[in-house]
Amino acid sequence: MARILITSALPYINGIKHLGNLVGSQLPADLFARYMRGRGNEVLFLCATDEHGTPAELAAAKAGKPVAEYCAELHEVQADIARRFGLSFDHFGRSSSPQNHKLTQHLAGVLADNGLIREVSEKQVYSKADGRFLPDRYIEGTCPNCGYDRARGDQCENCTKQLDPTDLIEPRSAVSGSTDLEVRETKHLYLRQSALKDDLDKWIDSKTDWPILTTSIAKKWLHDGDGLQDRGITRDLDWGIPVKRGDADWPGMEGKVFYVWFDAPIEYIACAAEWAEATGNDWERWWRTDKGAGDVRYVQFMGKDNVPFHTLSFPATLLGSGEPWKMVDHLKSFNYLNYDGGQFSTSQGRGVFMDQALDILPADYWRWWLLSHAPESSDSEFTWENFQQSVNKDLADVLGNFVSRITKFCRSKFGETVPDGGSYGAQEETLIAELTRRIRAYEAHMDTMEVRKSAQELRAIWVAGNEYLQTAAPWATFKEDPERAAMQVRLGLNLIRLYAVLSAPFIPAASASMLEAMQTEDSAWPEDVAAALAALPGGHAFSVPEVLFAKITDEQREDWESRFSGSRP
Ligand code: MF3
Ligand code: ZN
Repeated sequence: MARILITSALPYINGIKHLGNLVGSQLPADLFARYMRGRGNEVLFLCATDEHGTPAELAAAKAGKPVAEYCAELHEVQADIARRFGLSFDHFGRSSSPQNHKLTQHLAGVLADNGLIREVSEKQVYSKADGRFLPDRYIEGTCPNCGYDRARGDQCENCTKQLDPTDLIEPRSAVSGSTDLEVRETKHLYLRQSALKDDLDKWIDSKTDWPILTTSIAKKWLHDGDGLQDRGITRDLDWGIPVKRGDADWPGMEGKVFYVWFDAPIEYIACAAEWAEATGNDWERWWRTDKGAGDVRYVQFMGKDNVPFHTLSFPATLLGSGEPWKMVDHLKSFNYLNYDGGQFSTSQGRGVFMDQALDILPADYWRWWLLSHAPESSDSEFTWENFQQSVNKDLADVLGNFVSRITKFCRSKFGETVPDGGSYGAQEETLIAELTRRIRAYEAHMDTMEVRKSAQELRAIWVAGNEYLQTAAPWATFKEDPERAAMQVRLGLNLIRLYAVLSAPFIPAASASMLEAMQTEDSAWPEDVAAALAALPGGHAFSVPEVLFAKITDEQREDWESRFSGSRP
């Protein structure tokens, strides 16, 4: 039995996530966590809301709520949706937790003790009306290049020119619209990543099994141009983790907080501490290599835009601390999922959001489509037609139909118990051989987190059962050789249990219904397929389940297509 630590990139607190966010981190992480648990491993699966930074402050202001209250509310909303999507976190924490405050301040303190933090004086725009410094992108004005009157302080959206806030003509605050702005001097802390370059380089080089895409992103940042840059880790904001050096005040840093990208990954660790406190567990045996985490395998899931933070920034924090923190072993990253000819967009409300998805259909329908179309080797696209097709074919025609046919046939001829009698012939041996081969392939893909390939193999496993049923045709056999038909039906019912076990990581709710219908709690992984297909003996009671998957009609598809074509109200 192995011990596996799994984290999914932490979703930003400001609003409900769309399906593109979901498939890029939390959902595949859940797939892997469920699979690894199913194989009998000890798993700790963590996620949390990423709560700091300007977007959270502004979203709270827009909602007319104090930011702490807003975050507490949105955390509950996200936790509830995650639960309804079947995301099986051992703990869903908050980056604003006391545990994260303490750990973030601690790490900043040891980094400073190790000489890895320096102070930098900067000039920054201050808005008197708002009573705050404004980040570049919250300053608007007229573009000096093209005259567009809503250019942002970091870039003009219209002509794409990169800007400095001081370039803008008639600059104003994007928060209040106030033009009463001035440039003030402010001090910030920088993490001396440049001093950690060699350590990082060595660490990345030791990761021989990482995808080229991942290591090349890291190498690019390490070596291109002037190499790895030092990074500001503080901000002039109210909401965040106050800048402290361990427990002590940090002279000159009063009123400042740590930058959200500094404290968010530290929440991966603090989240384990939150979990430990809530459950009476020991978190250090997952995170401290001096306290037993040496044999933990740590896997992270994230979208490609998150890769630099996870291959460089966060490792710089951990390596720079000189403390024995567990570092990531494998990093699984994803491309983007597009929506119907464009992009999913949170700011524009474009696409399908997690709450809306669950209003339309149960989680398993979405889980299956999203995972079987995960944007692994390239970006992928959600279309309603493709969704309808894949649900109707894979889930309704292949899996659902199999379950319904075999259980209904058995009920009508043998009653609601597994029939006795008969023994395997060549056809059954062939099926078992095929299933064995395919299940081993499925395991290999799941072990290496090849999400699409895993889905394809699982589907092929369902198809094999359907084809067997089609050629064995117990409804025909029954007339001449009822014993043989009994054996075929018994095998079919056992296949339902087997499918429930294998499919659980993808479609946990349907899998639970299948086990319930088979009236068994035996969800042992099929190490030996023949043995697994004898788990339900003759005489074992079962029931015919409700329809597992309903087909999506053309009317439904058209209705949803038009409902979700605009932006979210
Ligand atoms: N909230 C970030 C995003 O959605 C991810 C943060 S991951 C963490 O892109 F490691 F910083 F927590
Ligand atoms: Zn412009």
